[in-house]
Amino acid sequence: MPRYPRVVIGRLATPTGLERRAIGIDTTTGRIAAVAARLDGDEVVDHGERVILPGAVDIHVHFRDPGHPAKEDFASGTRAALHGGVTTVMDMPNTDPATTTRARYEEKRALVAPKAHCDFALWGGATAPGADARAVAAVAPGLKLYLGESTGKVTFEEPDQLERLIADLQEVRFPGVLAVHAEQQADLEAARDKHATAPGLRGHGARRPPAAELAALQGLADAIRGVAARPEALSFRVHVAHASTFALLESARALGLSVGVTPHHLFLHDALPLGAYGRVNPPLRDEKEAARLYAALRAGLVPIVESDHAPHTRAEKGRDVLDAPSGMPGVETLLPLLAARAARGELSWHTVAATTATAPARLFALPKGEIAPGRDADLVVVDPADAAPLSEERLLTRCGWTAFAGHPAILPRTVYLRGEPVVEDGMVVARPGTGQEAPPVPRA
Ligand code: DOR
Ligand code: ZN
Repeated sequence: MPRYPRVVIGRLATPTGLERRAIGIDTTTGRIAAVAARLDGDEVVDHGERVILPGAVDIHVHFRDPGHPAKEDFASGTRAALHGGVTTVMDMPNTDPATTTRARYEEKRALVAPKAHCDFALWGGATAPGADARAVAAVAPGLKLYLGESTGKVTFEEPDQLERLIADLQEVRFPGVLAVHAEQQADLEAARDKHATAPGLRGHGARRPPAAELAALQGLADAIRGVAARPEALSFRVHVAHASTFALLESARALGLSVGVTPHHLFLHDALPLGAYGRVNPPLRDEKEAARLYAALRAGLVPIVESDHAPHTRAEKGRDVLDAPSGMPGVETLLPLLAARAARGELSWHTVAATTATAPARLFALPKGEIAPGRDADLVVVDPADAAPLSEERLLTRCGWTAFAGHPAILPRTVYLRGEPVVEDGMVVARPGTGQEAPPVPRA
């Protein structure tokens, strides 16, 4: 029997339940060499009955670097990610300045790479069709499109130019992912006028109604049809970010698009006393809607769970809902919240792995997201007995707060990034620069 430099043992999630397995790691490449009932190793780490998940790939974070490092910089954000079992993050383009030109994209990459504790990739942004979008698409694995206004200067300027953008990307055979913030600006403006002073989180929801999300999806579907008979005929994949309703989730799936749901739309709702800490775009909906999304997750109908980690300061979030910026932190709590639900038996461990790691890694063709030979040895060890109410003091995000305080959560005991421990006994031991930029999406 071959001998591996490092063997890590624990219970792995399979479609039929947890099974104890040994993972053989090639520490030279950082990849998994073998998975079997038993393996010999120079170093053997037996995690006993603890569960080993593939490192989570959070495709949707807003670290504030460059621009607002006091909210979160790339160092604090990637440390928080590892602390919560996220081994790869994809950072959104609405930094300040926004990464909507090739030069800004390259500048951001040079700025953040030395600070990365976990692996990462950077989204570019598209505010219009044309030369800038094409130039960013030539280097970025993903392009983000805001069909409605949110934080930062990234809104796509002319909704009727969407088909032209898709045609541009198709023409340059963009091989990556086009992610869409699906809230239609015209509908947001109409609702804002109608419900200008409606108070609280429900007021925020009324100003950004579910109909605005469905309208944006409709516009997206029409634009895709103008360029290709089916989404699969495009050179790139299309991802609908953070569906806040079951209707949007189902409509996006029916169109053959990738779609993500956030933990806050699953586990929070607009009747909770969160004040502006619960203000996000798209908004939290009512309790029934959250329950429908969670039922869909349990039934295996949610492809991807993404955090939409969007920290703002306590000073900003302490204001009235009407005056506060939108967004809440989440990269550090995404996996812990789901793991606690799995430990209770509400959710299968396999669904947790599929939605947080396997599907997001596949979307970007990353050699990650599965505990299988050839994949990066990104592993997260959780102890089901660690489930405990979440408290802000335990978290590393620089903004210092969470809207999930009191929710059951399991923070990882140990995390391996490409075969090396980066979290030990729950403490992040990685250094800035440990994280690498994810390999580029293969280009023809
Ligand atoms: O709530 C949100 N916050 N939604 C977004 O679209 C942007 C994000 C942010 O960057 O603050
Ligand atoms: Zn976002």
